Amino acid sequence: MKPVKVGLLGLGTVGGGTVSVLQRNAEEIQRRAGRGIEIAIATARDVSKPRSFDTSGIELTTDPQAVVNHPDVDVVVELIGGTDAALELVMQAINNGKHVVTANKALIAKHGNEIFAAAQGKGVMVAFEAAVAGGIPIIKAIREGLAGNQIEWLAGIINGTGNFILTEMRDNGSDFADVLAEAQRLGYAEADPTFDVEGIDAAHKLTILASIAFGIPLQFEKCYTEGIGHITREDVVYAEELGYRIKHLGVARRTDKGVELRVHPTMIPERRLIANVDGVMNAVLVKGDAVGPTLYYGAGAGAEPTASAVVADVVDVVRVLTADPENRVPHLAFQPDQLVDLPILPMADVETAYYLRMEVSDQSGVLAEVTRILAGQGISIEAMLQKEPNGDAVTVPVIILSHRVCEGQMDTAICQIEALDTIQGKVTRIRLEVLDA
Ligand code: NAP
Ligand code: HSE
Repeated sequence: MKPVKVGLLGLGTVGGGTVSVLQRNAEEIQRRAGRGIEIAIATARDVSKPRSFDTSGIELTTDPQAVVNHPDVDVVVELIGGTDAALELVMQAINNGKHVVTANKALIAKHGNEIFAAAQGKGVMVAFEAAVAGGIPIIKAIREGLAGNQIEWLAGIINGTGNFILTEMRDNGSDFADVLAEAQRLGYAEADPTFDVEGIDAAHKLTILASIAFGIPLQFEKCYTEGIGHITREDVVYAEELGYRIKHLGVARRTDKGVELRVHPTMIPERRLIANVDGVMNAVLVKGDAVGPTLYYGAGAGAEPTASAVVADVVDVVRVLTADPENRVPHLAFQPDQLVDLPILPMADVETAYYLRMEVSDQSGVLAEVTRILAGQGISIEAMLQKEPNGDAVTVPVIILSHRVCEGQMDTAICQIEALDTIQGKVTRIRLEVLDA
């Protein structure tokens, strides 16, 4: 049988990894897919740039339209990133009846609903395993492996760059900017690294995971997003003293009132496996009603780990090229007419526990005022830590761990605490999840 022809949009970190993996493992991949897979044409902005991989035998062009309109291309692999050119090219490829594989989580989270509708109309596949958690096959695990379950919640470390930064800060006391530069050099960071640091990239990925877990449309704009920029080394150290680790977590939970969809720094008990996922590694913990908790772990970014997921999607497409489009695995795991409109909850309705750090005047009665405010909002305290003053400082750091409470009540309490004359500056708040199953 003739080999399947691939058109590649992008020859950067992931594009290069994809070329290398397809070449190196060509024989094994053909045994799995049932047909050979060849990259016929590829595009980059600068095709004369020296690359660290072999592009011989691939037609190179600076015109991405030449890829999506190429008459011999069966599968378009989109690895240029962003949501403008990428959306136009993916829609054009679909209109041309070509299957699409993409690693672009921003594209899927923001425009996936219209992309999947167009793909369904044309009877083509859009596969996006590499869009979430790099090399971990988490989309396939939830969409297919856990299809017998009601997914109750999932929680994941789903941004490699952010985890790399937090790990280096904790283990080596490294400077935030230096570690970010290293993540960029290693090809982990997004073109705009604020996406990694501010949690936007993780929110893209969480949006996708929540849709396939709960059978709801993609609703990126409703995801609560908080970055790691305000986490200090002090917080990391206090968390350790209390037996916790700080991780930048994406949490999606189905409740009676709706779906929690949130990305923020989170304290996790250090005894949990997921609290020990360090560096660029990612992990996703999924709780199904039948299977219980399951944990998926692996490299969350980088050329070949991500290419591993891209190539697996290409193999999937090749395997089903002859299958009836009606009987393929649905894009968002549930049949398109079976998606439900569960509301995404506002943060004020989300329930979680908290770590609070505040600078209080070193005088009697201050803690009594703070605990009175917390009690007034029905917030019960799990632990409290008062540190020695720093040198001649007139304030001391106080750390409080609360039991679970609605975020709205905690917002009110924090406002009242910050208004006290005896409190200096803002209260640092980190949400805390026990993640027990
Ligand atoms: P990258 O290294 O910046 O590569 C982007 C490639 O696209 C480059 O080859 C660039 O050309 C080309 N390109 C950009 N705009 C173009 C245009 N308008 N026309 C033609 N070519 C264009 O990016 P990457 O890290 O590989 O990421 C690609 C996608 O994978 C993104 O959606 C990203 O979010 C996703 N992703 C990345 C990782 C990772 O670890 N890096 C992991 C998972 C998912 P030049 O080479 O000439 O500049
Ligand atoms: N910038 C992303 C990360 C790439 O660091 O996780 C993988 O999606």
